Amino acid sequence: MSEHAYDIGTEVVPSDIEVDFRALDDLIVDRFGEDSENLIMILQAIQREYNFLPKPVLNYVSTKMNVPLSQIYGIATFYGMFSLDPKGRNLIAICLGTACHVRGAERIKESLEEQLDIKVGKTTEDMRYTLETVRCIRCCSLGPVVNINQKTYARTNPEKMGKALELYE
Ligand code: FES
Repeated sequence: MSEHAYDIGTEVVPSDIEVDFRALDDLIVDRFGEDSENLIMILQAIQREYNFLPKPVLNYVSTKMNVPLSQIYGIATFYGMFSLDPKGRNLIAICLGTACHVRGAERIKESLEEQLDIKVGKTTEDMRYTLETVRCIRCCSLGPVVNINQKTYARTNPEKMGKALELYE
């Protein structure tokens, strides 16, 4: 896609994500010197900004850096830290590692799925929550554990997590 497909400035893309292409230019050119060696760090910065990698942004990065889109998608799909799907404002990660599993993590998972009316891997329609599972976050003695954004809920249960959800807009 040609660079001219985008007006430099702010544009609303179909997923209702507002992309600030001027800020994107600053990121690519000023911070990372348009160097394809820095592609992963650029994608990490984009992931942090949007909570996922929006397609129009990847198209723009491809054009701006003269890197094939297929190479960018290759990286985006290889590393688990990247997501091509929009995520909710709050990321809930239920640990289903062995220690948490034997202490009732499955019940927490089922309860959160029911309460949010979504399955693991999905995002609520209002984009408030994304529900995911992880395999051991290295605090097994505190299990079962659930992370919401940066906060860890230790020795938790379905009731506690149900209440915790209300804290996150
Ligand atoms: S199994 Fe859950 S923290 Fe290790």
